[in-house]
Amino acid sequence: MIAVPFDFSFDDWRDHARQLLSRGIAPDEVDWTESRQDRSLFSMEETLPPPAPTPHHNVPASFLTLARHAWAHRDPRRPGVLYRMLWRLTRGGEKHLMSIPTDPDFHTVAGWRKSVARDIHKMHAFVRFRLVGTDDATGREQFVAWFEPSSQCLRLAVPFFVNRFAGMDWSILTPDECAHWDGKNLQFTPGLSKDSVPPEDGLDDLWRTYYRSIFNPARLKVKAMQSEMPVKYWKNLPEAPLIQGLITTSRTRMEIMLETPGRTEKPIPDNSYIQNLHTLSDIDYLDILPPPQALAELPLPELQAAARICRACPLWAKATQTVNGHGPADARIVLVGEQPGDQEDLAGTPFIGPAGKVLRAAMARAGVDEKSVYMTNAVKHFKWTPDGPRRKHVTPGREEVQHCRPWLLAEMARIQPAAVVLLGATAGLSLLNREVRITRERGLIDAPHIASRVVLTYHPSYLLRLRDGTARDRAMAEFEADLAMVAGF
Ligand code: URA
Repeated sequence: MIAVPFDFSFDDWRDHARQLLSRGIAPDEVDWTESRQDRSLFSMEETLPPPAPTPHHNVPASFLTLARHAWAHRDPRRPGVLYRMLWRLTRGGEKHLMSIPTDPDFHTVAGWRKSVARDIHKMHAFVRFRLVGTDDATGREQFVAWFEPSSQCLRLAVPFFVNRFAGMDWSILTPDECAHWDGKNLQFTPGLSKDSVPPEDGLDDLWRTYYRSIFNPARLKVKAMQSEMPVKYWKNLPEAPLIQGLITTSRTRMEIMLETPGRTEKPIPDNSYIQNLHTLSDIDYLDILPPPQALAELPLPELQAAARICRACPLWAKATQTVNGHGPADARIVLVGEQPGDQEDLAGTPFIGPAGKVLRAAMARAGVDEKSVYMTNAVKHFKWTPDGPRRKHVTPGREEVQHCRPWLLAEMARIQPAAVVLLGATAGLSLLNREVRITRERGLIDAPHIASRVVLTYHPSYLLRLRDGTARDRAMAEFEADLAMVAGF
């Protein structure tokens, strides 16, 4: 029996496993013992036989990814089970091992990975940064968060924070390890105790306000909520004191409706987002989201509440929030834009930024009463890329438009407007399900599946971008004429 000390890191296990594999040492000859001391691989090598003549083994990349995630689990059996899987995949000739879900080793490892994926998700959802001061040298504000993940998943969870809070200096402190980001570099240092975390500051109030505003009645299945947000995490959440109150005061119709059998089901064309919800998040959102057929039957506030937790495409991760439509539920006219911009993303309301101002002014001139119109977007999350200190708008792709379409279709089914205005090509793509050329097709178009009157026209941002004064005046006049046509319906 060969005693192999393994330490905290996956890389360390992988190096040891490679050595053992190349020497033909079978899994049952190895005794993996946990040791955090600095034991070099070299000392183990001295005790091993020399490498066998066939040292090269093709290890499937999918195994390495699975193993890296599963490693974050705290189960002490993981080095042994992972090595046995590695052995079977390579030396054992069981190339298809990972396509047999009932295999005991694969099943165990997949279970670890799943549990780690849940922990990563929880970390993304429940890490709360506190402002702790300003760096004297750089003048940049410093943020710190304390978190106690069930697994050792910090390194797997941290790319999300680098992406989401790229412009901030922050540290995430955990008992296992700490991650530090200074706007350019990511570093890791040993774990700390909770005493190292500075006391409460004003940011916690911000979190409470934010949480209250995003609180989602669709999540009010208390069981689902508790499994999403186990009590263990509550103690570090500034909004935790609010939760019980929100639960007891908000027994909404959403909860009642979801449990009422026998509702009629209206088909909604594209349900692929449900599958994506599953694979992208690894959390069973199906517990808390109604099936696509039921979306069209939800009252508007409940439909919007459900849209707030949509994870059907990756845009949610970089956006502040879902920006739902705005306006009366019985509006006669629906205006459909492309996606929220920077200001809309922060405020949670469509068309309040520069394009919105152009649109509202044109509506007023065209005689369209803003209060009677429902404004919404084809895509409900802001897609952007950093551009210095700015967040630069990026046009959503076909897939993102498709994934968001069920929400827009459900809004339409709910409101059943007499007229719909498609502002620009993305709105056209979403509801007509094809590429449109605004300059060629502008005006009244035939799309009875959307509404009896459908008008395709410019997006107000296009008007803002036109530099040539004459061209802009002409396009603006056409835009107003299109809106005036709608006012007359
Ligand atoms: N542009 C859009 O298409 N929608 C908004 O909400 C804002 C800008």
